[in-house]
Amino acid sequence: MMVALPGTSAVLVLSLAAFLPPPQRAQDPAMVHYIYQRFQVLEQGLEKCTQATRAYIQDFREFSKNISIMLGRCQMDTSDYKSAVNNLAMRVERAQREIDYLEYLRESDICIESEEKTLAEKLLQEAEEDQKVRTLLNASCNNMLMGIKSLKIVKKTMDTDGSWMKDAGSESAKVYLLIGSRNNTVWEFANLRAFMEDSTKPAPRKLILPLSWKGSGQVVYKGFLFFHNQATSNEIIKYNLQKRTVEDRMLLPGGAGRALVYQHSLSTYIDLAVDEHGLWAIHSGPGIQGHLVLTKIEPGTLGVEHSWDTPCRSQDAEASFLLCGVLYVVYSSGGQGPHRITCTYDPLGTIREEDLPNLIFPRRPRTHSMIHYNPRDKQLYAWNEGNQIIYKLQTKRKLPL
Ligand SMILES: *[C@@H]1O[C@H](CO)[C@@H](O)[C@H](O)[C@H]1NC(C)=O
Ligand SMILES: *[C@@H]1O[C@H](CO)[C@@H](O)[C@H](O)[C@H]1NC(C)=O
Ligand SMILES: *[C@@H]1O[C@H](CO)[C@@H](O)[C@H](O)[C@H]1NC(C)=O
Repeated sequence: MMVALPGTSAVLVLSLAAFLPPPQRAQDPAMVHYIYQRFQVLEQGLEKCTQATRAYIQDFREFSKNISIMLGRCQMDTSDYKSAVNNLAMRVERAQREIDYLEYLRESDICIESEEKTLAEKLLQEAEEDQKVRTLLNASCNNMLMGIKSLKIVKKTMDTDGSWMKDAGSESAKVYLLIGSRNNTVWEFANLRAFMEDSTKPAPRKLILPLSWKGSGQVVYKGFLFFHNQATSNEIIKYNLQKRTVEDRMLLPGGAGRALVYQHSLSTYIDLAVDEHGLWAIHSGPGIQGHLVLTKIEPGTLGVEHSWDTPCRSQDAEASFLLCGVLYVVYSSGGQGPHRITCTYDPLGTIREEDLPNLIFPRRPRTHSMIHYNPRDKQLYAWNEGNQIIYKLQTKRKLPL
């Protein structure tokens, strides 16, 4: 008798008939047993078939075809075989339906799986990245800026551009003055008093650098002057102020130095900064109204530790500084003032915009040539229209991570 195989194609069953050999009654029980065994293995495979492969489906198709052929050969005279074969036929049908369903799902399964995998990998990567940044920015420092408390003009020179600073990473009382946006003469004063009183004793020490700087983004950190080499678009020089030699140099990656960092600071292409976490560079990213890119630099090796694309725009910006791992960008509409911090970027995401008060600077007629934070005395050193200014700050504790 012909075994009905519901669910399998009638065309298949009919066409198989052509290949059927003459009935071989003696072999029937052995064959049914064999079919059972093979089918069991396949069924087990099917259970695990969450990641169904094309090869497996093809194998099953071929096997179910073979089963149809074999079943067709069987002469179902005895009731023993009859129920066994009926049972088998049902299982074949069920398996067939499952296979069809699996194949139907297969494409989307793989898609979902690979999406899930990508998502999982991405989340893992982000977690690792997050941990790396947390370790990197793990200084004992948890202040955030609350306001500009006061302004003090400590000195006046005639120059629009320039920078002045103390060593942001040592206890040295020395004050450095770098006049102009392209020069190689550094003035070193013994202390702030000598700087303010000028030309009186002790006279400043004059240091002639072997290379000129560009812009007003220089910093002094742990006895080294870091500055943008004027002859290059993105080279940062590390100059040993004690030995008076170039200690090291690096090329700041990420398209640094191709455009002005801040729209209203017309000579600075790379700005440097120091905070409680160490040395940073700020440059503007690609595009006409580029966003600022923040890079953490290891001052010993001059290696790039990490880089962030910030949401803060270069347009209408005039300066920026870092305080306790957070970038504060100073904007002045049309370069006229008022000067206010309207964009901050926190790589750790602990400070939210809504936590920040209205951060506005005392009124100044022109934009700043530079504003740098000094983590030692926790105040800002700024240059505005030839005035060397100290801004005292008001801070408060950040929320715990
Ligand atoms: C199906 O039968 C053919 C011929 O008997 C054999 O070569 C093939 O391996 C069988 N396929 C499966 C999946 O059992
Ligand atoms: C941060 O440093 C402290 C000790 O200085 C340490 O206990 C803590 O585990 C560090 N945290 C991270 C995220 O590295
Ligand atoms: C460089 O600065 C010094 C004083 O700091 C000044 O005398 C000199 O003219 C400047 N050179 C240029 C090319 O601006």
